[in-house]
Amino acid sequence: MSDVRQAGLVLGIETSCDDTAAAVIQDGRAALSSIIASQVVHHEFGGVVPELASRAHLDLLGPTVDRALAEARVTLEDIDAIAVTRGPGLLGSLVVGVAYAKALAIAAQRPLVGVNHIEAHIWAAALDGAEMPAPFVGCALSGGHTEFIVAKGFGEYALWGATRDDAAGEAYDKVAKLLGLGFPGGSVIDRLAADGDPRAFDLPRAMVESGDYDVSFSGLKTAMRQKIGARTPPHDPVWLANLCASFQAAVVDTLVAKIARLAADTRARAVVVGGGVASNRGLRAGLTSACERLGIPAIFPSPKWCTDNAAMIGIVGSWMLSRGQLAGSDLEPVANLEEMGFALPALERAV
Ligand code: KG4
Ligand code: ZN
Repeated sequence: MSDVRQAGLVLGIETSCDDTAAAVIQDGRAALSSIIASQVVHHEFGGVVPELASRAHLDLLGPTVDRALAEARVTLEDIDAIAVTRGPGLLGSLVVGVAYAKALAIAAQRPLVGVNHIEAHIWAAALDGAEMPAPFVGCALSGGHTEFIVAKGFGEYALWGATRDDAAGEAYDKVAKLLGLGFPGGSVIDRLAADGDPRAFDLPRAMVESGDYDVSFSGLKTAMRQKIGARTPPHDPVWLANLCASFQAAVVDTLVAKIARLAADTRARAVVVGGGVASNRGLRAGLTSACERLGIPAIFPSPKWCTDNAAMIGIVGSWMLSRGQLAGSDLEPVANLEEMGFALPALERAV
């Protein structure tokens, strides 16, 4: 298998939240395998329970890595480096992945790379072969994150905007819970919204006129709670579809307004979206139209690379590896984005 090693194989490991994932990346371009063991244990609680997540990672990570290697038809011997999510995320969950990756790197005598989960979401479309012309606006939209970043190239980022309260996916999940639609609820609401009237309910679009690039979803969530009132499932299907469509339109309008303005103000050459919410059909349509008006592409990963996966960790890890950005055996997980040296808004806002 010496030819495979020359080609550059990186094992990616992701355990930042409730998905235990491993993938094998070849040449910093293609995923030979991508395995995701979703932790069903959280569903009955209607949200991720951190303590249960770290325990489930402990059980699932070994078998998940074995499957990723087997599906790529390689062994640990063939792997050139190990890339692991360093943060941000749930500390207990990150600890499991980082400790496992360190142990594997030491045992196999291979280099270790610590990857920023948000950076990986932003570059996930590269797994489809997408080219991202810099500078671009990179949006991380997931259950835990809503960040708007301007990327001048790989490794050169500035954080320009974020949510002031709930993440976009979190807003979807909370509304889905109020409607008794299960967890996580983003894709369910997205599907129901397709049959509804987005103008049926009048819902707020917070901060759309504010001069910055931040968003807020707490007012929208409160408005939804009021509209739902004391109703319990089973809901009238027309009412439900209309409410979901109206909610989705409010989220999409809010996101698109800020992202498009940031792209225009920074003369971005593209808008790139990643994270679970990037698979939302309303957002894809709305942002694509807004970017067409700006004359730039809106780039979305295929749905399998939107939600948490280890292939995006492996591809970014491959690029870091080729730049010599290696971690030592003292690599520590970091729970907060702010502590990762990723955001320099003050330096970059003066356009
Ligand atoms: O990136 P991801 O897998 O995990 C985090 O890092 O959080 O994103 C999961 C989030 C959940 O909140 C889920 O409800 C949301 O993404 N999501 C969606 C859709 N598919 C997943 N939200 C809106 N529309 C969708 N189609
Ligand atoms: Zn994520």
